[in-house]
Amino acid sequence: MGMKSDIQLIKDGKRLDGRKPNELRDITIKAGVLDNADGSCYLEWGGNKVLAGVYGPKQCLPRHLSNPYKAVLNYRYNMAPFSVDDRKRPGPDRRSVEISKISAEALERVVLLEKFPETMVDVYVEILQAEAGTRCAALTAASVALADAGLPMKDMVTAVAAGKIDGTVVLDLNKAEDNFGQADVPMAVLQHSGEIVLLQMDGDLTQKEFHQAATMAIEASKKVYELQKAALKDKYKERGSK
Ligand code: CDP
Repeated sequence: MGMKSDIQLIKDGKRLDGRKPNELRDITIKAGVLDNADGSCYLEWGGNKVLAGVYGPKQCLPRHLSNPYKAVLNYRYNMAPFSVDDRKRPGPDRRSVEISKISAEALERVVLLEKFPETMVDVYVEILQAEAGTRCAALTAASVALADAGLPMKDMVTAVAAGKIDGTVVLDLNKAEDNFGQADVPMAVLQHSGEIVLLQMDGDLTQKEFHQAATMAIEASKKVYELQKAALKDKYKERGSK
């Protein structure tokens, strides 16, 4: 973000990948793709490919981390070494620890953890291919995987980013836009209450631009939510026909 360059990211009102300012990249979501997880989801979002697996609720280990009032939700965002242009050094780094923390906090707002005291729920998200916007793609997939696991949830978490490139507010930045743009604002929205459960901002926006970006992301989250719902419905249709 904010890397100075002479790259023109918008030409004749279109972005370099042909999208209009308020257009999402193509998204496909499939629920229930892993036999050994309690819930799972595979999601492609533009050039992002992510796999989410949920295990639990199960006994909380180590015991001293358990909570007598609710389940502990662990979220691990992990980038595969081959997911980016330069090999990503395996294992957690500051960035993935941060993403995991804020994503867990977003999901804690919807999963009815108080129904499962002393247990834990593990949410693993593997980024197989990254092309900007992976934290949003990961959280959107994780939410489907949690629903697929049958965990009671009060709402769905849907994450979409908006930002600014060449002075224009746009939806869902791709890699070049993320690298050479002026701002990126990942957001996660609860569809029914409208609550924002994740909000970050990299770069600078005026108040007016921020409002525009937030409105754009919230509007787009409704489309992504429909895809999440359709993925879950498809899974149960398939299961029913077996
Ligand atoms: O992926 P997201 O936009 O949520 O997070 P970011 O930190 O803004 O990273 C933007 C993009 O930079 C990622 O999606 C990757 O495509 C790329 N990246 C990378 O190439 N190598 C890394 N170690 C981290 C990120």
